[in-house]
Amino acid sequence: MKTFYITTAIDYVNGSPHLGHAYEKVLTDVIARFRRMMGDEVYFLTGTDEHGQKIQQSARARGVAPQAFVDAIAPQFQEMCNRLEISNDDFIRTTEERHKRVVCELLQQLFDKGEIYKAEYQGYYSTRQEQFLQGKGRNEDGSWPEIYGEVTEITESNYFFKLASYQQWLIDHIKANPEFILPRYRAKQVLEFLSEPLNDLCISRPKERLEWGIPLPFDPDFVTYVWFDALTNYYSAVVDKPGVWPASFHVIGKDILVPPHAVYWPIMLHACGIAIPQSILAHGWWSINGAKMSKSTGNFVEPLEFVDTYGVDALRYFLIREMSVGQDSDFSLDQFWVRYNSELANNLGNLVNRTLNMTNRFAASTVPGVGPVGDAETALKAVWEKTHAEVIPLFEEFQFNVGLERIFAFITATNAYIEQRAPWKLGKSTDPADQAILQTSLATMAEALRLGSSLLQAVIPGTVQKIHGVLGYTAGSTWMDELVWGDRLTGKSVEKTCILFPRPDKKV
Ligand code: MSP
Repeated sequence: MKTFYITTAIDYVNGSPHLGHAYEKVLTDVIARFRRMMGDEVYFLTGTDEHGQKIQQSARARGVAPQAFVDAIAPQFQEMCNRLEISNDDFIRTTEERHKRVVCELLQQLFDKGEIYKAEYQGYYSTRQEQFLQGKGRNEDGSWPEIYGEVTEITESNYFFKLASYQQWLIDHIKANPEFILPRYRAKQVLEFLSEPLNDLCISRPKERLEWGIPLPFDPDFVTYVWFDALTNYYSAVVDKPGVWPASFHVIGKDILVPPHAVYWPIMLHACGIAIPQSILAHGWWSINGAKMSKSTGNFVEPLEFVDTYGVDALRYFLIREMSVGQDSDFSLDQFWVRYNSELANNLGNLVNRTLNMTNRFAASTVPGVGPVGDAETALKAVWEKTHAEVIPLFEEFQFNVGLERIFAFITATNAYIEQRAPWKLGKSTDPADQAILQTSLATMAEALRLGSSLLQAVIPGTVQKIHGVLGYTAGSTWMDELVWGDRLTGKSVEKTCILFPRPDKKV
């Protein structure tokens, strides 16, 4: 079986991790956990992008060597992954030898094949964006857009990769493989970009202008420029691991789809004779309170502060529930509170507490076996069957927000079932028929809670483990088996209480 190999973008380390970085890790983690639960062999890579002018400048501004600078920041990204309970198998840093070696091998190979050539280049250069600009990007009055900062005209010799000669091959590949760019509507954007003739790609910077990069193996007066170095991480991390490459999914933000991931990367690989990834999944961007995220204006969410205050699963849940993969979304504290209170604390939290409380009160803390089954149980079981059947395909299609909505509708239905059966009334009756229904209702609510929470496992793994723990349950077989309605909890001892989502004292 081919390994399901999934990656995130590697983050620039010229600042601390922010919500956008956190989201991408969580989204990729949810996919990785889901695929593992579905029985795939998964390999999950994330990491940091540590070369380039901005990093060189940030290091200089602090008066430290670039290596010392990145060595200080990269651990913050690793720490973020740990705190967010990201289940990555590896974390690659582009300053590692294993990475630099592979970048050099690929560059040398392309150079030997004549795919890389040296030429004089004259053009407009933006230091802020670290890129040469195309004339068509100018404003109507001839000035350059604000985002480029100071733009100067320069002439320099550089190395170029023959991107243009692969243009038609890429267009054909995208048209023949509708799963290559996801969500599918984004392929249109890529094809639009490819409808104009491609320029060859400048892949170097002279050392006197940029020192902080990987020296070209065939000309040490130059270093590799950003994308050739960064993109190669996906391959360099697994080159020694048989059966892992090609990647199944590269998860990235929409800003780096065109041209780097959808154009440069497949062409680079194809030119090297390496298989190209199966799919690139581009997610949308988070704004905060309706505006662009910005540290300088204070419109910022520190993901780890959020985790400290509300717990990791509250953040994971919100990110996945709120954003439709591919679309942009807004992070507002008010909306976070609505979901935290109504969905996590009240709906799910209450179901857990009621189940424990009533099993303790009416069944000596032990989940009873099911007695006679009535319409209420049949109806709830039918809701479960429908939820189960709908959620898996939704997750397969990355529609996690809709999947979560369905799971929570099932949790709501379970709470409604409890209201309907009212075990607290049945518990007061001495009629043996009522006692039998009481047993059934206790067993049914516990089983529904076990199942509903099992479906949430990829999104809020720690919480699900807690819920299963207080129900005295240890998952023992495949996830698919675990999702079958049955009597796995009969005879299990439950805990007294469990506060899953307490009301925090402080609002971030
Ligand atoms: N280093 C490059 C990626 C190289 S991949 C071979 C880079 N780094 S980044 O730190 O700027 O961004 C890392 C990822 O975070 C990107 O996929 C980017 O889209 C994502 N996000 C950055 N800000 C974001 C939001 N505000 N919202 C959602 N994701 C965002 O680009």
